[in-house]
Amino acid sequence: MDLSTTYLGKRLPHPLIVGAGPLGDDLDRVKALEDAGAAMLVLRSLYEEEITGEQMDAFLNTESHSESSSEAGSFAPEPTIALGPEEYLEHLRAVKKAVHIPVIASLNGVTAGGWISYAKLLEQAGADGLELHTYHAASDMTMSSEEVERQAIEIVREVKKSIRIPVAVKLTPLLTAFAHYAKQLVDAGADGLVLFTRFHRIDIDVTELDVIRTLPLSDSRELPLRLRGTAALAGRVKASLAITGGVHTGLDVIKATMAGAHVTQLVSALLRHGPAHLITVRREVEAWMREHEWESLGEMRGNMSLERIPDPAAYERTNFRMALR
Ligand SMILES: Cc1cc2nc3c(=O)[nH]c(=O)nc-3n(C[C@H](O)[C@H](O)[C@H](O)COP(=O)(O)O)c2cc1C
Repeated sequence: MDLSTTYLGKRLPHPLIVGAGPLGDDLDRVKALEDAGAAMLVLRSLYEEEITGEQMDAFLNTESHSESSSEAGSFAPEPTIALGPEEYLEHLRAVKKAVHIPVIASLNGVTAGGWISYAKLLEQAGADGLELHTYHAASDMTMSSEEVERQAIEIVREVKKSIRIPVAVKLTPLLTAFAHYAKQLVDAGADGLVLFTRFHRIDIDVTELDVIRTLPLSDSRELPLRLRGTAALAGRVKASLAITGGVHTGLDVIKATMAGAHVTQLVSALLRHGPAHLITVRREVEAWMREHEWESLGEMRGNMSLERIPDPAAYERTNFRMALR
């Protein structure tokens, strides 16, 4: 059975990779993830200095782990202080020495100069690729969507000019013309697209008059939004596609592949169950393929994309009629 795939120009034995977050913070855990078969590792984001401090700590040190089930109690990483640029580069070098799997650095810049200079440093420190975390809060009323997109596209173009390693862009789902924007990113040089950023949950404590920011761990219900986005792009853009958000089971991986994803990134599932969950998910994928007589993920990839099924509603109707016969 062939689970192999290619992501950002790298041949991987299967599509299960570790997504950006705290999982790559600790060298022992990184080795455990490699031992459990992780095909690739994305490190947490390096944030350009201007937005470090309270804002960043809130993102990195969320209450998310308190949601972990008891079985994960011993695994869930302790909240860590966000790494400054020097520490990040040092950690990246150490991770590269510790494992053989490709290691992707993640960058969240602010200024054009910051994006480029950090991208270069991350490449020099040995990153096998770069994931650009182009998060934008979109609450500035004076800035149009066109301008926000133009800036991000320009950043991708400039970063690509300054480094040689492949570049993936992590997208937000909150876009009016998502597929158009995605294509422009690819035209600007993006080698991969990562769908989608998962936002903090914002709530209001109405008695304390406080804003509550949490980042609860996901479950498979987050996946359909990503399937829809991936299915819209698969076969239509010349870039690797990764799904991040709601990948927890072998069936999730099968669905992601059918939508057209080359890889699936796992974070919440591994925080909840530990590195060995990679083995479980891989076995589930293999068992499902065996049962349904699929030889390879390659032949399944994108078979449910919009390119193959331009009108899913018509497809449903046909299937329904066939079922009635
Ligand atoms: C504790 C925690 C920290 C995270 N840190 C980052 C980060 O530094 N950069 C980033 O791009 N995404 C970060 N993420 C988002 C994950 O990479 C991922 O996109 C998201 O959790 C959805 O995937 P999941 O459903 O597998 O958890 C973080 C997520 C969690 C739970």
